Amino acid sequence: MKIPPVKGTRDFYPPDMAVRNFIIDGWKRVSLRNGFQEYDGPIFEYLKMFQIKSGEEIAEQLFSLKDRGGRDLAIRPEITPTLARMVNQQINSLPKPIKWFSVPRLFRAERPQRGRLREFFQWNIDIIGVDDVLADAETIFCAIDYLQEVGLTPDDVVVKISSRKMLAAYLKSIGIAENRLEALYVVLDKRNKVKPKAFEEMLNKQIPDSEMADKIQTFMDLDTLSAVEQMSGQDKKVDECINELLELNRLLNEMGVGDYCKFDPSIVRGLAYYTGIVYEIYDKANELRAIGGGGRYNDLLKQFGGPAIPATGFGIGDCILGILLKEKGLLKPKTPELDYFVAVVDIPLTFDNKKVEDVAIQLTAKLRRSGLSANFSYKSAGLSKQLKEASDQNAKKCIIIGEEFKNNELVVKDMATGKQDLVNVDEFLQQPRSF
Ligand code: HAM
Repeated sequence: MKIPPVKGTRDFYPPDMAVRNFIIDGWKRVSLRNGFQEYDGPIFEYLKMFQIKSGEEIAEQLFSLKDRGGRDLAIRPEITPTLARMVNQQINSLPKPIKWFSVPRLFRAERPQRGRLREFFQWNIDIIGVDDVLADAETIFCAIDYLQEVGLTPDDVVVKISSRKMLAAYLKSIGIAENRLEALYVVLDKRNKVKPKAFEEMLNKQIPDSEMADKIQTFMDLDTLSAVEQMSGQDKKVDECINELLELNRLLNEMGVGDYCKFDPSIVRGLAYYTGIVYEIYDKANELRAIGGGGRYNDLLKQFGGPAIPATGFGIGDCILGILLKEKGLLKPKTPELDYFVAVVDIPLTFDNKKVEDVAIQLTAKLRRSGLSANFSYKSAGLSKQLKEASDQNAKKCIIIGEEFKNNELVVKDMATGKQDLVNVDEFLQQPRSF
């Protein structure tokens, strides 16, 4: 009986693994050069962790289980609640600001579709303890720093930025009560994800007053901050948020990444915990779902039983990003290379009662122990087959052990040029890197 992989999961064969590592190594490299330190948490947590403040969408997509003691657990769909829990746990001893990154494997029981799976990897960058728009700018810079490094230009990707605080101020200014906002965000977040008709129906259910609903739609269609200012009738709270967004824009320009960014008030974010600046990263052609998203969440640590500490950060998944990089020809996974392949000549040979194959095994082991990558053939095949094996494994050099070994010599063949040198075995083993 053949058992298929579970729906929404991926098998990573070596070439897929090389792609995964290409993406993740880049995330880690960029995090470190931006001054972030790596952390991780457990794969499962108490179920309630993800019910407190992640929002109804994530709560519906949880893989949950009961442990043997009857405790309700869930496999993590995101790492932000874990981060909040971990920081709260050591809040007094951690030096601030906290700049941490992580690359967790996450699980969401979504309907699998292109770029949306049930198991994926997500790059997380978070700054905790800074209530300054500079921290939001730094996280956005970090995301763009990566996108730019892999070769995505402002013609390929866009960071759409808005402010949930500004949206809240506007919604309140047109008469929507505070306690209705959270449910409304869930609907508004769907605007770019479902067909316009379906969105209208969802919105009308939440906001039966059609004039109010129209105002919301018009607001979300605006594309400049001055248009927002005009439409909100210079509401003081909205103006404060506009100034914050202007400052963010200034900082991003100072950092040289302003051309990747665009103001877009239709960005709301699906998760419940965001409180300020929010953003999502999309392919410029707008054919794929979000590459990533994040924003400020100043209340989450408090909601997890800690002190009120401001925080901001983002998550970028590996699926949509992988699709886009492939489409643009920017996936450059490393091909594994071998320093040495140790081959033996076809004829049976012995040296001091030692079979030539054993000499090859011994030499390979010595090379490996000196820190070089080396391999040998399991089959006693002819030399040409072994050389083929060597080139299949991308060997840079091949060592051939033959008759010359009697005179304590071996052949070193450069696989790229085909050039062969006869080398003294002791000299070779003393400095195998120099041949
Ligand atoms: P999120 O918007 O739920 O945010 O996810 C961020 C990104 O993770 C998405 O844009 C997408 O690339 C990827 N992603 C999410 N779900 C899936 C899926 N089912 N399959 C493939 N990729 C997926 C968060 O998770 C926040 N915790 C991010 C954050 C960190 N905010 C502040 N700090």
